[in-house]
Amino acid sequence: MSGKFDKRNTLNDLTGKEWLKLTKSFWFSEKCKDDKDAFQHPAPFLIKDIEKLISLFTKKEMTVLDPFVGSGTTLIAASNLNRYGIGIDLNKNYKKLAINRLNKLNFKEKIYYKYVIGDSFEIIEKISNIDYIVTSPPYHNILRNNGNGLREKKYNTCYNYRNGARIGVEYYSDKNNDLGNQNDYDSFLILFGNIMNKAFHKLNNKKYCSIIISDFTINKKETCILGDIVKVMEGIGFEFSGTIVLLQDNKPLYPFGYPYAYKINHHHQNIINFRKC
Ligand SMILES: C[S@@+](CC[C@H](N)C(=O)[O-])C[C@H]1O[C@@H](n2cnc3c(N)ncnc32)[C@H](O)[C@@H]1O
Repeated sequence: MSGKFDKRNTLNDLTGKEWLKLTKSFWFSEKCKDDKDAFQHPAPFLIKDIEKLISLFTKKEMTVLDPFVGSGTTLIAASNLNRYGIGIDLNKNYKKLAINRLNKLNFKEKIYYKYVIGDSFEIIEKISNIDYIVTSPPYHNILRNNGNGLREKKYNTCYNYRNGARIGVEYYSDKNNDLGNQNDYDSFLILFGNIMNKAFHKLNNKKYCSIIISDFTINKKETCILGDIVKVMEGIGFEFSGTIVLLQDNKPLYPFGYPYAYKINHHHQNIINFRKC
């Protein structure tokens, strides 16, 4: 521990020095060896990135919710830091993947975390007393539309698996309530808002919520997803507390518009933070 802990700190267990470091508006995404076990999921978080958020927004023994938990990374990060994790996902295969990851680290269900299969819109109703929400929804129907999915095998080994180009189509599920299966972007935003509205009512007052998502194209048009997410969340009652840019410096570069037009390569995620005031 570097620096001094201030007894008035009701937000987290960090010293002033540690807290200050995490207020930077950009972070470099950080890998660790346990990330590689998530590669059967098309879009897992990296454990260290989520640990930083959980250490910033909670104290030990608090409860963290991820309504789109996929391969269980949030549950691993929470367990590593002595927080209780609750995860929800529609796809039962992802629960199996998550349980394998958590068992390998000796984190047992119920003691350290709970993973519930189902539609978050319904499941959140049965949950209460949440101290922090961190999540990443499907990126609209991008996995279906762009032929994206799992990443190239040569990159699936150890530290590099997250940087490879995507191959083949692997989408989350065929279910109608899967946010990744909405035909138009507005329906995606409405469904996302409905789930976050439920989550808002289960989050304790003055607590935070982080949505991790990048900008992407809708019908080939560059779209400011960040702005739309802020509008949806403010409509629910959340207060916007700023965006941390999560830099992913090792991804492959594609010459999308070259040599005729400028087309951006998205090499960062936005961690969009909100508070319930
Ligand atoms: C971007 S992924 C999240 C990945 C996760 N952060 C991880 O580390 O593996 C989005 C997840 O949302 C799930 N999902 C989509 N619609 C859902 C819904 N209505 N309720 C619960 N989960 C849903 C998908 O199955 C998918 O695993």
